[in-house]
Amino acid sequence: MLAERVRKIAPSATLAIDAKAKQLKKEGKDIVIFGAGEPDFNTPENIKKAALKSIDDNITRYTPVGGMPELKKAAAEKFKRYNNINYDISEILISCGGKHSLFNIMMAVLDKGDEAILPVPYWVSYEEMIKLAEAKIVLCGTDEKFKLTSKIVGEKITDKTKMLILNTPNNPTGAVVDPDEMKKIAELAVDNNFYVVSDEVYEFFIYGNERHLSIASLNDKIKNLTISVNSVSKTYAMTGWRIGYCGASNEIIKAMENLQSHSTSNPSNIAQMAALEALNGPQDSVKEMVRAFDERRKFMHKRLNEIDGISCIEPEGAFYVFPDIRETGMKSLEFTSRLLDEALVAVVPGIAFGSDNNVRLSYATSMHEIEKGLDKIEKWLKQTTVKIH
Ligand SMILES: Cc1ncc(COP(=O)(O)O)c(C=O)c1O
Repeated sequence: MLAERVRKIAPSATLAIDAKAKQLKKEGKDIVIFGAGEPDFNTPENIKKAALKSIDDNITRYTPVGGMPELKKAAAEKFKRYNNINYDISEILISCGGKHSLFNIMMAVLDKGDEAILPVPYWVSYEEMIKLAEAKIVLCGTDEKFKLTSKIVGEKITDKTKMLILNTPNNPTGAVVDPDEMKKIAELAVDNNFYVVSDEVYEFFIYGNERHLSIASLNDKIKNLTISVNSVSKTYAMTGWRIGYCGASNEIIKAMENLQSHSTSNPSNIAQMAALEALNGPQDSVKEMVRAFDERRKFMHKRLNEIDGISCIEPEGAFYVFPDIRETGMKSLEFTSRLLDEALVAVVPGIAFGSDNNVRLSYATSMHEIEKGLDKIEKWLKQTTVKIH
């Protein structure tokens, strides 16, 4: 009999859809996949070369558990340069991906009985991590544009609130929290003394007039309560390399490092050398990728709104759209499984993110595939027997 701990958690729905879609593709089916949670670009050459050099130079051993001092320094400098946050090197931890950073945080901070406020729609893993830490999930909504506001957060605060999850730009919605609201949310955290886990892994994927704002940059009081989570995965198309980094008070970082020392130890030395080049080297590839995503984002938003039964808010960040499918008469699981079986298009059911009225499409795929996939969705919806009310 397995432990209760694992019996309570659900497998990642996003990975499950992706696996089924990839299997169909392998079988030779002409399938369009909108499921990917990773850029379709290759890791830039300079980063790959840094990893190869690390192997040639025999930089292939254990590093300090919390990461190489050079990489911590690069992360601290990046926090200063891009996020306007001053972290000392002792306030930085390098982990095996942003997901690992988040897992360490939940385990280091949450106790049984603590409440963690989780805005809906949310990235799938937060929910399961909070459950694993045996804390109580307190779901809260977002506004009609999926934006988190201080009023919504304020309504959920109790004397047990230990943490708020703040993910901007957001996966799955692409929503970006407004600066004024972010300031008010910071005041709530300071006044009520709870942590803010600020997941900023999509910080560079921000479009139009939006600018990324890190909550920890607002003032020292909120900085002390914030755990700023980041990763090289999305920014540098390095999802497979597994390097995440975070900044927080030394007390929290030490606790996380302690945990890490008894589980994974240091992240791969070679991947750390690659991440060092990613943070310190030329940044042109990021701009190029963001430009391509912006073009796809605009097309996708416009085209989805032309399809009967679907309506879609323009996302401001990340690389996802999260259209409303209510008018099709289907819930998200029925929509996604029928779409995959009947039209060979893979999208992710919104229920996995706590929102059954939506589905998530990633535009981390070529324009050609996007056009083809959306044409297929339109045709399928026209043919489907479900009445459009
Ligand atoms: C919101 C969010 N946070 C964190 C992660 C973790 O990314 P990684 O572990 O690859 O750094 C993801 C990945 O999909 C994500 O969407």
